[in-house]
Amino acid sequence: MTREELKAAAVAMLDRSYCPYSHFAVGAALECSDGTVFTGCNIENAAYSPTMCAERTAVAKAVSEGHRDFVRIAVAGRCEEFCVPCAVCRQVLREFAPEIEVICLNGKGEELAMPLSALLPYSFGPEYLIREAE
Ligand code: THU
Repeated sequence: MTREELKAAAVAMLDRSYCPYSHFAVGAALECSDGTVFTGCNIENAAYSPTMCAERTAVAKAVSEGHRDFVRIAVAGRCEEFCVPCAVCRQVLREFAPEIEVICLNGKGEELAMPLSALLPYSFGPEYLIREAE
């Protein structure tokens, strides 16, 4: 999938968003090293805290289907600002792909891209626990 196709896949997921409370739709498209793409949207809940972000929906779909080797994620919103992943989603991506390229889109389809390490510096990851267990 090309970069533009990945971005389009994230934008297409905006229509799947379930966001009756915030009315803030988010779409994501997560690309694996073998080219497989998993999409996601945010899924809100009347109890609020169970709300799933679009990025974590995509990660859950990928990992539960046996994919963990992520290379790029596109995140789309309809907002004026670039739709950046929240801190929880940054940490979830960090678990599997500390250097994944994060492509943030605004409502005009313009992009702001950077490695996850720029969004989450000095991050905590699995290697800390593995070292401690040795
Ligand atoms: N949201 C995401 O889907 N991804 C993010 O990284 C930021 C926030 C969703 C959660 C909620 O449904 C709505 O955006 C407003 O916070």
